[in-house]
Amino acid sequence: MGILTGKKAIIFGIASKRSIAYGIAKSFHEQGAEIALTYQNDKLKSRVEDAASEFESNLVFPCDASSDSDIKQVFTDLASHWNKVDIIIHSIGFAPSNELDGPMIDCTTREGFKIAHDISSYSFIEIAKASQKLLSSKASLITLTYHGSSQTLPNYNVMGMAKASLEAGVRYLASNLGGKGVRVNAISAGPIKTLAASGVKSLRTMLKQHEQRSPMQKNVTIEEVGNTASFLGSDLSSGITGEIIYVDAGFRNCAISEHDI
Ligand SMILES: NC(=O)c1ccc[n+]([C@@H]2O[C@H](COP(=O)([O-])OP(=O)(O)OC[C@H]3O[C@@H](n4cnc5c(N)ncnc54)[C@H](O)[C@@H]3O)[C@@H](O)[C@H]2O)c1
Repeated sequence: MGILTGKKAIIFGIASKRSIAYGIAKSFHEQGAEIALTYQNDKLKSRVEDAASEFESNLVFPCDASSDSDIKQVFTDLASHWNKVDIIIHSIGFAPSNELDGPMIDCTTREGFKIAHDISSYSFIEIAKASQKLLSSKASLITLTYHGSSQTLPNYNVMGMAKASLEAGVRYLASNLGGKGVRVNAISAGPIKTLAASGVKSLRTMLKQHEQRSPMQKNVTIEEVGNTASFLGSDLSSGITGEIIYVDAGFRNCAISEHDI
């Protein structure tokens, strides 16, 4: 018996076995949750179907996060299989690659700003809206953010602003839904080599710096993020909402590493 036994979870954002969402699905499965997955487009469909069968699920739905009707359709379809949803994972982020390559003052565009905020931040609100009828009374909504929301990093640019917007959204949704017993939190993961992260030009340097400077002198894994998501999805975290939980080997709190002195 795991900490998620009896829970039903829908996970948005698997693109590969390196995806943070894949690490979350793996942990949820180990902890006894039933799982449904979504995929962004036809190119990713068979990969996500493979992941679903690995986690003993045949519930796989298409969803382009820029489309309100796609998001609504996911919950309409899900309702014909499940009478409730206990956990929603939003592990979706995107900005055009030219936005993540150079100083923000040079490369940020109005269009890129709109896209980054639409996909990476607004879609979480739309998912929360569309899930309302199906949400169980103790449901937990979780999104993925990054420290670039509050501190600057080379090339992260418009994604930093989109993550700041997403984190503010977490607090507002937590305030809106808390009265119903529904909790809303974000996990702020340290850098991990995934498809999305590879779009940030300086990823390799970020990984190296993180490993050298974090108190634990390591990078985190998708399994560590997944296990934190299991805790946040479970009733063990019933008093936590509106929070940004860091899974970063302590990097955020460390101005100068002891290892550098
Ligand atoms: N990898 C890191 O270093 C890191 C650190 C902190 C936070 N995050 C966040 O974690 C989340 C997951 O990213 P990841 O690192 O696992 O990379 P990933 O590339 O494996 O996952 C990103 C997901 O976003 C989905 N996506 C993008 N545009 C979409 C759209 N229009 N509609 C539907 N889905 C769309 C992709 O299909 C993919 O599944 C993102 O929000 C990312 O910003 C990543």
